[in-house]
Amino acid sequence: MEITRICSGDLADPTVDVLLTEIVDFDRAINHDLGLSPDFDPLPGSVRGKLVRTDAFTAHELWLGRIDGHLVAKAGAYLSLRDNTDVADVYAGVLPAWRRRGLGTEILAAMEGQLRTDGRTRLNGWCEIPAAGAADDLRRPRVAAAAGTGVLPAEHGSVAFAGHRGYGLQQIERCSAAHIRGAERREATDAAEGWESPACEGDAGGADDGYIIRTWTGPTPNEHIEALALLHQKMSTDVPGAADLYDEETWDADRVRALESDREFAHGRTHTALALLGGEGVGFTEVVSYAERPHVAFQGATLVRREHRGNGLGARLKIANHAALRRDSPVERVYTWNAAENSWMLAINDRAGFNAVGWVGLWKKILD
Ligand SMILES: CC(C)(COP(=O)(O)OP(=O)(O)OC[C@H]1O[C@@H](n2cnc3c(N)ncnc32)[C@H](O)[C@@H]1OP(=O)(O)O)[C@@H](O)C(=O)NCCC(=O)NCCS
Repeated sequence: MEITRICSGDLADPTVDVLLTEIVDFDRAINHDLGLSPDFDPLPGSVRGKLVRTDAFTAHELWLGRIDGHLVAKAGAYLSLRDNTDVADVYAGVLPAWRRRGLGTEILAAMEGQLRTDGRTRLNGWCEIPAAGAADDLRRPRVAAAAGTGVLPAEHGSVAFAGHRGYGLQQIERCSAAHIRGAERREATDAAEGWESPACEGDAGGADDGYIIRTWTGPTPNEHIEALALLHQKMSTDVPGAADLYDEETWDADRVRALESDREFAHGRTHTALALLGGEGVGFTEVVSYAERPHVAFQGATLVRREHRGNGLGARLKIANHAALRRDSPVERVYTWNAAENSWMLAINDRAGFNAVGWVGLWKKILD
């Protein structure tokens, strides 16, 4: 197999167009084989962004494996440039027809070797298993997560492969979907919270405890940019398990704007709800929807600062954001990922109408 490494920003536009089609077809084939919903099929705008975009904060690298010119294997690394510079988030895939011939091992080893040379020695990988597959025959062997909650089927190809390559299962995340409109929406959700959806555009109070929820779509208003940067920074360590995988990230207004630009390049729209107390940002939640698949949105960060927890803000933020999505977008369903041991957040999501659709294994390997 011939392996080529591509760093984001390396390619000229005409080359990108050819590659884009190959990568989108490749990723779609992997997703289909895994049994993931077409909602997770690759979005050409996002793939293009990973190939051409560079900024001061993040970079993507790809390793493409070809046999007789055909793309049969692919590995990728997502790199932070400002902090966590010894960490890489990695992934590998091989087309179904080419598996169990050592190609996955070969492309992963090529990527790991180059990452090690670049000083990236803490690797975090992930695998995705639909809920139906994870529940297959409970008598079969399971691998337990180091975080203490949850198991994955040991014989699943992705799980067996990660173990074979020296990765340890650190944590399991639940992937859940919420239908925010029509018959599938849980109408009881809002009422159960004793809290109404915002009646006027942009702001919602609702409970008389002083907290205000502000929602918007698109770039963060200037007056909230510092609050968003601080909340993103706290997000990098304040969620269960994060500290085992990453050091605290450094966020400022420029980094928030860079993230927004990345999403805009990929035709993404960010929908944000921010909780304010006396003008100070104390929590937020954000989801991103893409023009290429406008009925689907993906949850980004959600955080309530420690000292403001226990006031129902997590649920209020999500419910306010869903109300804003119904009002301002065609989004019908929202996907979110939460650590299996994060029972608090899972309970919030259950109240916000989410149902489990799959499990994501987070794997960790320290290179020598
Ligand atoms: C996981 C994946 C990349 C493996 O690719 P591959 O080319 O088949 O991997 P290899 O041939 O190098 O397999 C190496 C070892 O991993 C284990 N393994 C791989 N696939 C397996 C499977 N389906 N069942 C059991 N063990 C498996 C075996 O120990 C295998 O060695 P062996 O074939 O000598 O028994 C491929 O199945 C894939 O693309 N899956 C979907 C994407 C994915 O989940 N990637 C993330 C993995 S963390």
